[in-house]
Amino acid sequence: MRVIVESDAIGVSRTAARFVADLVRRKPDCVLGLATGSTPLGLYAELIRQNREEGLDFSRVVTFNLDEYVGLDGAHPQSYRCFMQQHLFDQINIDPRHTHVPDGRALDFESHCEQYEKLIRDSGGIDLQVLGIGSDGHIAFNEPGSSLGSRTRLKTLAPETIRDNARFFGSADAVPRLAITMGVGTILESRRCLLLATGSPKAQAISATVEGPVTAQVTASALQLHRDVVVVIDPPAAGWLTRRDYYQHVETSQKLLQSGQWSALNLER
Ligand code: F6R
Repeated sequence: MRVIVESDAIGVSRTAARFVADLVRRKPDCVLGLATGSTPLGLYAELIRQNREEGLDFSRVVTFNLDEYVGLDGAHPQSYRCFMQQHLFDQINIDPRHTHVPDGRALDFESHCEQYEKLIRDSGGIDLQVLGIGSDGHIAFNEPGSSLGSRTRLKTLAPETIRDNARFFGSADAVPRLAITMGVGTILESRRCLLLATGSPKAQAISATVEGPVTAQVTASALQLHRDVVVVIDPPAAGWLTRRDYYQHVETSQKLLQSGQWSALNLER
């Protein structure tokens, strides 16, 4: 796991946007896995800026969102489809047919979830999956106790998640109780995962994810089993990490290597 601690939330968004934009430039028909919530808003704003000002081209990009509330259709202001339209899709040159968000009003959830997995496979698999993290350590809506091999399915939201998301619905009572979510196993099949977190409420979950044991009680910890995970966080979210100096040291060494400053690494050419 690569851990990058930026100086603030703006730095987190810029660094995350660099990973996404580099991929889109290198592979214009790449498949992006996308998240909703507060955390990726700055990333999306930066991608919109690069689309407008630097010609970052999304015309061939395909996207799959992690999750959707059950019971909300795409026009509901709190649906994740609506969120994505508002904060990204309507503001960039993406082909609407290339954007996928689970359907919260699907009639047959089981076959809808199977179909979603098939669509991901048929698109060639996810190249880069953007992830936020819940204060209970969830990724997507894989709440504590979710199988680490789980696939896209229906999931009951945990009380912590209902509490955390009440701010968007006005009250906890109005938050849907069920969601369709990619599984942990689905996420682990992405070629690269980009986990973002800002603020002290995420510090404990980030420490459990990066330095704790792999456990279904913190589903983000399953990312330790993935070969290419980049964690980008701000100092408050890094507050519980015990090996922060080492992560910084790794980043410095990488930069020295890339810029050919061998002697600073005690290497001879
Ligand atoms: C959203 C999602 C969730 C959020 C997580 C953090 O698509 O999958 O796992 O990433 O709940 O949400 P925020 O960013 O609002 O703190």
